[in-house]
Amino acid sequence: MSTVRIAPSVLSADFARLGDEVAMLEQAGADWIHVDVMDGRFVPNLTFGAKVIETLRRRTALPLDVHLMVVEPERYFDDFAAAGATGMTIHVEVAPHLNRQLARIRELGCSAGVALNPSTSLSAVEEVLRDLDLLLVMSVNPGFGGQSFIEGSLDKIARARQRLDAARSGATLQVDGGINRDTIGSVWRAGADTFVAGHAVFSASDPSAEIAMLRSRCAHEA
Ligand code: DX5
Ligand code: ZN
Repeated sequence: MSTVRIAPSVLSADFARLGDEVAMLEQAGADWIHVDVMDGRFVPNLTFGAKVIETLRRRTALPLDVHLMVVEPERYFDDFAAAGATGMTIHVEVAPHLNRQLARIRELGCSAGVALNPSTSLSAVEEVLRDLDLLLVMSVNPGFGGQSFIEGSLDKIARARQRLDAARSGATLQVDGGINRDTIGSVWRAGADTFVAGHAVFSASDPSAEIAMLRSRCAHEA
């Protein structure tokens, strides 16, 4: 069976207790911590920057998977890498020099990822498939947690899996948005291996049990 990674998003955490929340996620069996950076320009919402990444880094040994929903993402690469980001994922819609930007992320010692909005074609990453450590297929329009999974994403995820395999890419295939115990099985069957979950984990009375449930939904449907 292929690896299943659960990456809870701290976007749905209680920000007044952020350090404790991330320590709780680690205890609860999370594989990665997903950090949603929003600039109020690429997406309507605003979240956090390097200072928060640094704070999270001090509270967990887990990989920090930083999702940059920002225009001109390259302006933040150095600071985020220094703050302790493990990987940085940028949106192709605002990355006209993708090849150079991905190379820079790797130069800084981080994994390099590219994200696609629901309406963005997979062809936008065709030329960089071999330069990617991670491909993120958004299954909601980015900007907010707690939205519903867009069903049409399943076909796109399956096509993304085929393209990565055809390119002999070992990149992670991540899906973000509306992942919960009802949606994760079909996303896993479509070929994804890494699942961001914000609302599902943080609204659960027992986040640890919820993470285990999400993982088991993949395993049981093998
Ligand atoms: C959406 C963010 C997601 C979000 C997912 O803009 O990129 O990471 O937190 O949240 P849920 O799991 O609640 O859809
Ligand atoms: Zn995200």
